[in-house]
Amino acid sequence: MYAISLGDDGAELRPLEVWHAEELLADIDRGREFIGRHIGLPDVITDLDSARAYLKSYADKRGADAGSLHGIWLGGKLVGGLLFRVWDTSGGVCEAGCWLEPAAAGRGLVTRGMRVLLEWAFEERGMHRVEWLVSTANEPSIGVARRLGMTREGVLRENYAYRGVRASTEVWAVLAPEWRAARARGAHNDH
Ligand SMILES: CC(C)(COP(=O)(O)OP(=O)(O)OC[C@H]1O[C@@H](n2cnc3c(N)ncnc32)[C@H](O)[C@@H]1OP(=O)(O)O)[C@@H](O)C(=O)NCCC(=O)NCCS
Repeated sequence: MYAISLGDDGAELRPLEVWHAEELLADIDRGREFIGRHIGLPDVITDLDSARAYLKSYADKRGADAGSLHGIWLGGKLVGGLLFRVWDTSGGVCEAGCWLEPAAAGRGLVTRGMRVLLEWAFEERGMHRVEWLVSTANEPSIGVARRLGMTREGVLRENYAYRGVRASTEVWAVLAPEWRAARARGAHNDH
């Protein structure tokens, strides 16, 4: 139900909701170390209550049209998530993010899912700019930003402490006209 196919491999994009708490916890448990290398999500989702609370926070955001959360299912199993952490309709700016459990990486699931969501953000919701904030050390995520046609705009040097180490953040973004131009070139099908 409410599923969007991401391709011939059976991958699907669906809203990720409070009733998925057990599935979300299992997904994070399978990827706790991999996912936690650069982002604190596994520290936020540690048990069923915290999984439910995280999902509820996104249900509240969605209720306020201030963010959203989708899951990626592969072979009927929840394997990752795509989020709009920031969703500012008056400013036309949003910030996207993602995770995958390691067994689901390397198949283009996040790129494929994000393309669906960015198309919706730009064309249905009138967003002008989608941002992607990523640790300078997070090569796979930088690869996603590149495949989505984003431009690296700058670096916030040592702007946050993660697990006791000061890390820097790259700011990547794609603008609505750039997104449309890439679509016209057929770039949205590229790997
Ligand atoms: C960031 C993260 C989601 C990237 O995962 P990923 O699997 O590399 O990204 P995608 O799902 O878009 O897959 C891209 C890979 O699949 C390949 N691929 C296969 N089929 C593809 C297709 N149809 N479309 C696009 N890429 C495809 C690409 O070539 C690429 O592989 P490569 O990097 O070896 O060239 C993952 O590393 C992760 O979850 N990390 C932990 C959490 C995290 O850091 N989140 C980001 C915070 S900013």
